[in-house]
Amino acid sequence: MFDNLFKPIKIGSLEVKNRIVNEPMGLSYCDENGKCTDRESAFYAERAKGGIGLVLTECMPVVPGGPIGVRGGGNSRQFLVTTDDAIPELKKLADAVHAEGGAVMIEIYHSGNQGEYYSEADGLTLSPSGQESALTHAPTRAMTVDEIHEVIQCFVDATVRAQKAGIDGVELHGAHGYLINEFLSPYSNHRTDEYGGNTENRCRIVKEIMEGIRAVLPDYPVIIRYSADEYLRCTPAGDVGITLEEGVKIAKEFEKYGIDAIDVSAGTYETMNWAWEPVGFEQGWKIGNAKAVKEAVNIPVIACSVLRDPAYCDKIIAEGYVDMVGSARQFLADPYWPTKAKEGRINEIRRCISCLNCMETLMGDGVGCSINPRAGHEAELGKPAKDGDGRKVVIVGAGPSGMEAAHVLAERGFKPVILEAKAQTGGQLNYADKAPFKYRIDWLMGFQRTFCEKHGVQIKLDTPGTVENIQAEEPYAVIWAAGAAPVKPGSIPGVNLDCVVTPPQVLSGDVMLLGKKICVVGSGMTGIETAEFLAEKDKGNTVDVYEMAEKIGPGMHFQTLIDVMGRLVPTGAGLFPGHKLIEIREGEADFEKVDTGEKVTATFDVLVLSLGTRGLPVPEDVKAAFPDIIVAGDAEHAGRIAHATSTGYMAAYNLK
Ligand SMILES: Cc1cc2nc3c(=O)[nH]c(=O)nc-3n(C[C@H](O)[C@H](O)[C@H](O)COP(=O)(O)OP(=O)(O)OC[C@H]3O[C@@H](n4cnc5c(N)ncnc54)[C@H](O)[C@@H]3O)c2cc1C
Ligand SMILES: Cc1cc2nc3c(=O)[nH]c(=O)nc-3n(C[C@H](O)[C@H](O)[C@H](O)COP(=O)(O)O)c2cc1C
Ligand code: SF4
Repeated sequence: MFDNLFKPIKIGSLEVKNRIVNEPMGLSYCDENGKCTDRESAFYAERAKGGIGLVLTECMPVVPGGPIGVRGGGNSRQFLVTTDDAIPELKKLADAVHAEGGAVMIEIYHSGNQGEYYSEADGLTLSPSGQESALTHAPTRAMTVDEIHEVIQCFVDATVRAQKAGIDGVELHGAHGYLINEFLSPYSNHRTDEYGGNTENRCRIVKEIMEGIRAVLPDYPVIIRYSADEYLRCTPAGDVGITLEEGVKIAKEFEKYGIDAIDVSAGTYETMNWAWEPVGFEQGWKIGNAKAVKEAVNIPVIACSVLRDPAYCDKIIAEGYVDMVGSARQFLADPYWPTKAKEGRINEIRRCISCLNCMETLMGDGVGCSINPRAGHEAELGKPAKDGDGRKVVIVGAGPSGMEAAHVLAERGFKPVILEAKAQTGGQLNYADKAPFKYRIDWLMGFQRTFCEKHGVQIKLDTPGTVENIQAEEPYAVIWAAGAAPVKPGSIPGVNLDCVVTPPQVLSGDVMLLGKKICVVGSGMTGIETAEFLAEKDKGNTVDVYEMAEKIGPGMHFQTLIDVMGRLVPTGAGLFPGHKLIEIREGEADFEKVDTGEKVTATFDVLVLSLGTRGLPVPEDVKAAFPDIIVAGDAEHAGRIAHATSTGYMAAYNLK
């Protein structure tokens, strides 16, 4: 199937077995000294094993210095290619990917004014013109010409290290607002010397890096990734940066310098939602950019564009939009996408739901995926042991946690039976998928059902996990994955009035609200998305959102918040941060302004109380009957999908 996806292609001197590219993704899996860990090499090896033709790694800083204090890095757990010490580390990586039949190229970069670490000399980040990033506001200064030459040489040296280590090539990171991007863009490059001004001058840094590389490695494959459109017109800065017209001119320059392929991306930190997109962006939304570049050059063009569906990817290659399709998140979510696509097992693909948990976890323990609990743990987890021997396991609850546990147990040879109190599987996901643009949540429910069906998991609907029902199964072990229910604090008078409802009641359609004046209390992810759902034009509601925290959207990843607010604010919804709910009466509620203590009364037809959820604990009688019961998902700790799937997976993985 999908013949276009599986045709080989050449990138310069490198033959790649298919058209599928794992785009770079910062992982934070290295150690504090910037050395490759088993976690890191196993991650990339698994992507190759899944059938990806070309694995591009996370961006790796090229400029020397320690991990802290390096001039041109983003965090302390990046793979440093700044000295020859990196060669054995790179070799480990190359060997791991080659052993699984993939090609691997490293992405090399300097973070410019978006860096976390500053010049050791004066504590400033380096940039073409000393212009601060409007997102990071890191102090910065314009580079001298000597410093530009120094950085160019660092890119060349890093490339030589890659070649010596057996890495198949390098990708110059010229996208997303980092140093090379800053030089390319008229927004950030105001230099009046040979490195600024017209397109050719702004591209000079790339030209000189290529001259340096070609002088020592004439045939070594080099790709450049760049933002063919910075989308700055979508910000207060206005239409001042690289637009597609300029992006096409830049691509033609790249081709002149002997670059072997172009990887088309978009955006900078200042337009981050256009670079790694939240749910509001559909598959293919920026693929026209790649097409425009492809029409202008004669070297292979790679692009990402929220690509998730093999049929669509195959089609855009066939129709000449791109030569190779790329994704970072899709292959984090499912490294076996290529194999499953080739074998026509489309329903088994874990399609990325654009939740951005990966971005949120980048600076913590390392990148993790909501829907693929194994991602980033390939080294330590290995394949689950197949030692279930037909032993029966009862799982209470068919939410994402219980479903994940069930199919992993079935794969291990256990005999899982799910007892689900409701008439459907999916748990809270049946509400989570209802807010605008959240339809991808259905994909998660879909592939979990597919896995359970494939492995013969028995699901008993309308069957609560009572002592009798569990005992009737005579289980070897029991997993409690009963999820969570909305919090209604008894300390607030009026929470049980008829005019008070919860997000699940609204989103499920149990309570239909049309043409009403609605007060949503609580603006975490669920509250704000419920507000957006209710404020949809055709519903004719008036919506006000009250929030105790200083700002709307506490606890939300800022990209998701920006995405939702971009749709909610134009509806005219009222936003009242800093308001603490004190009391609810029929049709009105009292709030206290957190800063002044002033009392404010709001009127409404219906109040939607969105103050979070609380895990449903194991009932005492169940605990007494099954003292070794294992608790997973929201029942253990009300959270999000990532916690639900990972605890479900681990419960099944660890069962002895
Ligand atoms: C509106 C909304 C939007 C959300 N959006 C997101 C999001 O965008 N991203 C994100 O990461 N998270 C989101 N969440 C949170 C996410 O849905 C939960 O964290 C996740 O569903 C928890 O999974 P779970 O399997 O632990 O529990 P649940 O999904 O709650 O599933 C538990 C299941 O157990 C069943 N059950 C309960 N008691 C019993 C019993 N006694 N016997 C048998 N069965 C029982 C329930 O009927 C349910 O089917 C959202 C939640 C809501 C409500
Ligand atoms: C957690 C995370 C880290 C990323 N790190 C990099 C990086 O190091 N270099 C890079 O060029 N792009 C990086 N990206 C951008 C991705 O390569 C890709 O362009 C983006 O995620 C959109 O495509 P996708 O939806 O197919 O993943 C990162 C994206 C995410 C979500
Ligand atoms: S964490 Fe979310 S956005 Fe990131 S790869 Fe997984 S599903 Fe996609």
